[in-house]
Amino acid sequence: MRKGRFNKPAAEIAQHYSESVSFDWQLYRYDIAGSIAHAAALARAGIISAAERGKIESGLLAIRKEIESGKFTWNRSLDDLHMNIEAALTKRIGSAGAKLHTARSRNDQIALDLRLYVKAEITEVSSRLRSLQRALLDLAEKHLEVVMPGYTHLQRAQPITFSHYLLWQIEAFERDAERLRDCLNRTDVLPLGSGALAGSTIALDQEFLARALGFTRVCQNSIDAVSDRDFVCEFLFCLAISGLHLSRLSEDLIIWSTTEFGFIEFSDAFSTGSSLMPQKKNPDIAELTRGKIGRLYGNLMSILTTMKALPSSYNRDLQEDKEALFDSVDTVRSALEIFAAMLPELKINRDRMQAAASDPNLLATDLAEYLVKRGMPFRRAHAIVGCLVADCATKEMALNQVPLAELKKRSSLFDADVANVFDVRHSLAQRRATGAPSPKNIAVQIKRWRKKL
Ligand code: ARG
Repeated sequence: MRKGRFNKPAAEIAQHYSESVSFDWQLYRYDIAGSIAHAAALARAGIISAAERGKIESGLLAIRKEIESGKFTWNRSLDDLHMNIEAALTKRIGSAGAKLHTARSRNDQIALDLRLYVKAEITEVSSRLRSLQRALLDLAEKHLEVVMPGYTHLQRAQPITFSHYLLWQIEAFERDAERLRDCLNRTDVLPLGSGALAGSTIALDQEFLARALGFTRVCQNSIDAVSDRDFVCEFLFCLAISGLHLSRLSEDLIIWSTTEFGFIEFSDAFSTGSSLMPQKKNPDIAELTRGKIGRLYGNLMSILTTMKALPSSYNRDLQEDKEALFDSVDTVRSALEIFAAMLPELKINRDRMQAAASDPNLLATDLAEYLVKRGMPFRRAHAIVGCLVADCATKEMALNQVPLAELKKRSSLFDADVANVFDVRHSLAQRRATGAPSPKNIAVQIKRWRKKL
């Protein structure tokens, strides 16, 4: 590449500073697929012969084998994976290899590699999301009847079921899968043929290239083709949000595994000990996941910041997109995988959850609604029950132990049937709004997800 224009070799320190092969080698599969398709397009355009095309293809396939068996030596002084593969090809097949880079720039080449990589990873992450959703659904089905307190502000609020909680998680991960599908649509555009930024005087059949490489559309502006990293930003955002969901799930599980809550216990296989305190069993997998999500946000900020104020078309700054991208993909892939493996082994302490859910204060709102159903305005009912709760707190008495006579002093609308209010299952059965945790609703939701997942 430097043979014509330069009088001096690059300084070693400059080479070292600018090389990308130490990380972009991971794109070799896509780079080789792109080059094979490109050679076919060059043959169609009459730039290379059918024999040359055949040599290029078999040469590239042999190089791929070499890479996959670990025998290929990546040379840092050759800058990036594109130059490494091209040099190896030319060494292997001679002058036909030197024709491959006709009507192509590394600018459209790297854009192509990245798009192919992101497309493949969208599929991979989506399937891991599915596995996690299935693990959550299995758990929801297995512990169908387990009642627990629902929390707001991490204070006991109203009764829910454990399944209801798990169904929430499934919804959130479903949005992640949808977001990925949406991102795929914008990633699915062929940039090849756009050259450095203005195409080439040698026109290639881009529709043919798109078909060969599995793209549904061809980029309609060659400047856009080499400038655009929106799909990387979007994908990193998708991954960051999946991470956010995993982190909130982690947080709940960590809290619930404390002695104070005792709602769940992590399997020994997914717990760690303390080097000092012999009694400890720590939820490190969930903690690490919660911790790792910071990197996903960092990676998203990094690409957004790199893109901001870049002049149009290709600038070398764009090389900085890869490490962030690879790191987020690896992080989310492994987090999804370990959660899908860890969840089925979670021990659910049904009794502890149920005991916590028998706190009558969880039904204070139901009590107010009892009065509303007898004609009282909600604000008044809210105040009356608020006073009752405060009273009970000072007298250290449970809300469901207040004698009917006392209740009647607060409102004549109270009657003997008020006792029914304090039946948690009765309360749940009434929660029939779409998405609310009545057992009927939960059964419908589980059936719906079973069909879908
Ligand atoms: N390593 C470069 C990247 O990752 C490849 C494209 C280089 N193009 C160039 N004109 N220097 O972006």
